[in-house]
Amino acid sequence: MMAGGVRLSHVGIAVPDLEAAMAHFAARLGVAPGPVRVNEAQGVRLVQFDLGNACVELLSPLTDQSPVAAFLARNPRGGLHHLALGSADLDADLGAHEAAGVRVLGPPGVNVFGKRMAFLHPADMLGVLIELEGD
Ligand code: CO
Repeated sequence: MMAGGVRLSHVGIAVPDLEAAMAHFAARLGVAPGPVRVNEAQGVRLVQFDLGNACVELLSPLTDQSPVAAFLARNPRGGLHHLALGSADLDADLGAHEAAGVRVLGPPGVNVFGKRMAFLHPADMLGVLIELEGD
């Protein structure tokens, strides 16, 4: 249950080569990418394509210690990595999920867009890593 409703923010795709993936997606989607951003805390470089109703986010590891590096070790060609849902009340929603037994991966952080966010454990969410992103 999400207190203020739920919306799709973005779909995250892990890629081994960010520049090559950006060029490919820009050509195939006909949409210009936003700027490449670095999230030191999560050890990723990322770029988003704004499709209007939601974004596609391409991410690649900054370091070998990045969780995305571990994902790419299992999926060398990349693939769907996470689904990000917009939350109107992040703390209330995280509390409700935790109360229902869904594990929240660490305390909320701040993403490169300045929004507070936290991940829900994929094993508790149909096998999908879910990012909850505050407004
Ligand atoms: Co994301």
